[in-house]
Amino acid sequence: MCLYIPLASLRHWIVDTQSPVTQSIVILDFGSQYTQLIARRIREFNVFSAVLPCTASIAEIQAYAPIGIILSGGPSSVYDADAPDADPGILKLGLPVLGICYGLQFIVHHLGGKVISAEKREYGHAEVMIEDTTSPLFAGFPATLQVWMSHGDEALELPPGFHRTAITSNALAGIANPERNICAVQFHPEVHHTPLGRDLLRNFVFGICGALGDWTPAHFIEATVAGIREKVGKGHVLCALSGGVDSSVAAVLVHRAIGDQLTCVFVNNGVLRKNEFAQVTQNLRDKLGLNLVPVDSSERFLDKLAGVTDPETKRKIIGREFIAVFDDEAAKIAQQSGGVDWLVQGTLYPDVIESSSVRGPSQTIKSHHNVGGLPDHMKMKLIEPLRDLFKDEVRRIGRDLQMPEDILGRQPFPGPGLAVRILGEVTAERVAILQEADEIVVSEIKAAGLYSKIWQSFAVLLPVRSVGVMGDQRTYANTCAIRAVHSEDGMTADWVPLPYEVLKRMSSRIVNEVRGINRVVYDITSKPPGTIEWE
Ligand code: XMP
Repeated sequence: MCLYIPLASLRHWIVDTQSPVTQSIVILDFGSQYTQLIARRIREFNVFSAVLPCTASIAEIQAYAPIGIILSGGPSSVYDADAPDADPGILKLGLPVLGICYGLQFIVHHLGGKVISAEKREYGHAEVMIEDTTSPLFAGFPATLQVWMSHGDEALELPPGFHRTAITSNALAGIANPERNICAVQFHPEVHHTPLGRDLLRNFVFGICGALGDWTPAHFIEATVAGIREKVGKGHVLCALSGGVDSSVAAVLVHRAIGDQLTCVFVNNGVLRKNEFAQVTQNLRDKLGLNLVPVDSSERFLDKLAGVTDPETKRKIIGREFIAVFDDEAAKIAQQSGGVDWLVQGTLYPDVIESSSVRGPSQTIKSHHNVGGLPDHMKMKLIEPLRDLFKDEVRRIGRDLQMPEDILGRQPFPGPGLAVRILGEVTAERVAILQEADEIVVSEIKAAGLYSKIWQSFAVLLPVRSVGVMGDQRTYANTCAIRAVHSEDGMTADWVPLPYEVLKRMSSRIVNEVRGINRVVYDITSKPPGTIEWE
C-alpha cells in the first residue's frame, strides 16, 4: 500500500523523532529506476541516506543534516523544457556532491558547460579508463574498470574549474572540480553490473564526505525506542498484527519502548494459511511476550465472502470487515485502558519515497489491501517506527531484537490471504483444501533449502475440475497450480525453475494427501505479463 505523505510531514518526522540520524547522505531523485538502489548501497555502509525528490528546497535538504549530496540518474535530457530540475544552490552549499548520469549532466548544465544529445548512445557494459588517478573517488582503483552505462546525452563542454577524470572509447565518463568538492560519473556505480561501484560509493561517503558509519541496527533500536517512549508518554498504543515481518518488527520495537501500554490485535480472517492463527499467536504472545489479543472472526469473513467471485470485490469485503472487527476491538481496549491514543503502522521507506517521487505514485493494478485506511472516527495518531527502513533493514533490526527467524524470514503473504489464491467462490471447504496443498508446497520448498532464496512460493486452487484415476476409481476433482517466483520487490518477478525432484514430490504428495485435488500444474509465467497472485 502506498501512503501519500506530503514532503513537509516527512521532514518533520526525521527532524522531530525517533530517527537516530546524526549525519546523512541526501540523494536527490531525478526519476531514475535505480535511485532506491543508491540509498540502499549507502545504508549498507551504516550511513543513513534519504531520498528526496529533486524539487526539495535547500531548507528541506538541510533538515537531514547531510554530509554529502548525490544527484541520481533520470530518463530526461537536461535541455528538455520539462526536465526535472533541482535548485542549483545545492552546488554552492560547500557540501561534497556526486552526480550520477543525469546528475553529471545537471552539474554541467547548471555550472556553465554544455550537454548535447550523443551521436552514439551508450547502453550496457562499457570499459572506463581512469585519467585522473589522484581523484579520491577512484582511490585504490585499477587503471580500467567495467561499468554499466545507460545514457543518450553527453557533456560536450565542461564548466570552468572542472576536468575530465575518466573516459570510455566513446565518451567522457567522469569529471571533477576538487576545489568545489564536486565530482560526477556518467556510469551507474549503484548497480551490480559495475563491480567496483560499491567501492566508488564507499570512497565518496567515507573518503570525501567523512562519514562515521555509525547508523547501526543497535543505534537505530536504541534511538527509536527512546523516541517512542518520549512521544507516547503514558498513552495507550494499538497495533494490528498481520503475522508478517513488518508489523511484527514494528510491534516488538514499540513493545520494547512501552511494554504493555501496547496492545496488539491479530484477526483471523478465515483465509490464513494452515495453523497460522495459532502459530502467530504463539510466536508473538508466548515467545516474544507481546500483549496480544487474538480475534477469531473467520466465520464472519467467510459469511461475507459467500457467493462472491470477483477478485476486487473479495479484497474490498476483506478490507471492510477487517476495519469493522478492528474497530470493535479498539473500542473494547479503549474502554479497558481509558482510551487509545496511538496506532502502530509498519510503513516502509519505499512507500514514503514513492509518495513523494518525481515520477508520481505508481499505478495501482490491484487495490492492495493492507492494514491502514482506518475510519476517521478512530482518530489515532500514527507511530511508524520503520518508515526510514527498507525491507532488508527491517530484517536486520528484527535479528538485533532477537526475533525468531521463522518470523523474520517469512515470504510475503497478501492481506486478503488465500482468498486471492482461490479462484472463484471462497468457501470453508475450499479454504481447507488450499491450506493443505499450500502447506505441502511450503514444506517441500523448505525441505529443499529453497524457502529463503525464493520471494514467494505457494499453491493456488483453480475453479477447474478434471478427470483422474486413483486405484481403480475414476475421480473428478480440483486442479491446483504451484507458483514460485523470484523478485526484488514484487513489482516484477521471474518464475523459478524448481528442480524436477521437488516438483515431483509436491505433486505426488498433494494428489495423495489432499482430498479434493487430483491434478497439479506448475505456473511458468513471469511478471509482466502475469502477476504474482492469480487474482
Ligand atoms: P501481484 O499479484 O500484484 O502481487 O503481482 C505483487 C505482490 O503484492 C502482493 N499482493 C498483495 N498484498 N494485498 C496485499 O497486502 C493484496 O491485495 C495483494 N495482492 C497482491 C503479492 O503477494 C505480491 O507479493
